[in-house]
Amino acid sequence: PVFAVPLKRAKVLRPLGGHGRHGAGYDVYRLTVREHDVTVLPGTTTRMRLFNGEPAPVIRATRGRPVVVQQTNALGVPFAMHLHGGHVPARHDGHPADQLLPGTERLFHYPNEQRASTMWLHDHSHHAHAENTYFGAVAGYLLTDEFEERLPLPKGRYDVPLYLRDAKFAEDGSLVHHMEDFMDRPTILVNGRPRPYFEVAARKYRIRLTNTSNERAFLLRLGDGDTMTHIASDGGLLPAPVPTPALEIWPAERQEVVVDFSRYPVGSQVVLTNAIAYPGEAAEVMRFDVVRTAPDPSSVPGTLRPAPDLGEPAVEREFVMSFDPATGQHLINGRPFDPARIDFRPRLGVTELWTVRNTDTKFGIPHSLHTHLEHFRVVDRDGKAPAPGEAGLKDTVTVMPGTSVRFRIRFTDHTGKFMYHCHLLGHQMMGMMGQMEVVG
Ligand code: C2O
Ligand code: CU
Repeated sequence: PVFAVPLKRAKVLRPLGGHGRHGAGYDVYRLTVREHDVTVLPGTTTRMRLFNGEPAPVIRATRGRPVVVQQTNALGVPFAMHLHGGHVPARHDGHPADQLLPGTERLFHYPNEQRASTMWLHDHSHHAHAENTYFGAVAGYLLTDEFEERLPLPKGRYDVPLYLRDAKFAEDGSLVHHMEDFMDRPTILVNGRPRPYFEVAARKYRIRLTNTSNERAFLLRLGDGDTMTHIASDGGLLPAPVPTPALEIWPAERQEVVVDFSRYPVGSQVVLTNAIAYPGEAAEVMRFDVVRTAPDPSSVPGTLRPAPDLGEPAVEREFVMSFDPATGQHLINGRPFDPARIDFRPRLGVTELWTVRNTDTKFGIPHSLHTHLEHFRVVDRDGKAPAPGEAGLKDTVTVMPGTSVRFRIRFTDHTGKFMYHCHLLGHQMMGMMGQMEVVG
């Protein structure tokens, strides 16, 4: 079905006891992951694993005010909740071996001492994470701060998080999770709804896109390549807005745009398509229906937020990402993940230069490297300066076959064991993950 159902706005969660409860310097949220039977495709029922029964409930947090999440695992499998993009102590990072067993609960502390950015929560448990994420266990985490609040960007109901993913359904509505079938006519879900429509006012909207797919990349185009204004990526606002006719978003990445619907007459319909849909697959992702006018005091400033200076690198590391056809494993520097192995020990406060190479030209498999704990700044791709849309802070970077990316990263504040891995979850499952120990 295409444009048969309305978009569901992501549900914004309320803290227990209400915001700013007297005496508490933090907000407490409850997130329970459990199986639910929900209707995704009209007329059928789908068993999903959801946080609080929602396709992507959202926590809105403010820098300087910590959040505590009381998480309950009501699934039959382990769960290790990870705040993707979060600068958090190792014991709250959702290490694959630090699992919440079925029927148990624990508290996660998120200090929120980092720049405003769009983050998200998903499972990181060893072996079960790809399936838990595929079956829907994701939540949004939108952190704001004073700097961002002062900018005249669209706010409130005109600041819309959208969680995009693909999913394959059997005739009876059940989700199919077979790696070998993933190209076989999947459906695209936006906030848990199949290719929905969304009624908007003829004014500017801030649209926060998060790709929660296990494997699927999107190249999004609005209308006939109408201009979108790219304002933010993984680590928050870009140095300057970038007008663009197309927006690429790989699994786990966040890309934010401002779209001005006032250039369409009331009554028009504008379709968002995926320019890299599979052969035979519908390209439509969702449709914006411009249904009314509205006042618009918002604007996009000519400069947004300078990226921090991470300093001159004192350490260099190289990461070679490749596929081993003999074992079917995906490797980093020739090795699959081993939970007992620490690959290297970065020092707090020392800037590093990482070179990530995808050497697989034979099978043509892309990879997408994600670092826990810190965001980084792309220095170059194959020696060339990054595109302006990649000039902000990133935590996930895609490396196409036969190419390389270099970035600067500096680990701060928290010591302990953190993961780095390919965020194409099938690759991560098949070994493409490593472990570093940040030391003081
Ligand atoms: Cu979004 Cu290690 O993960
Ligand atoms: Cu990969």
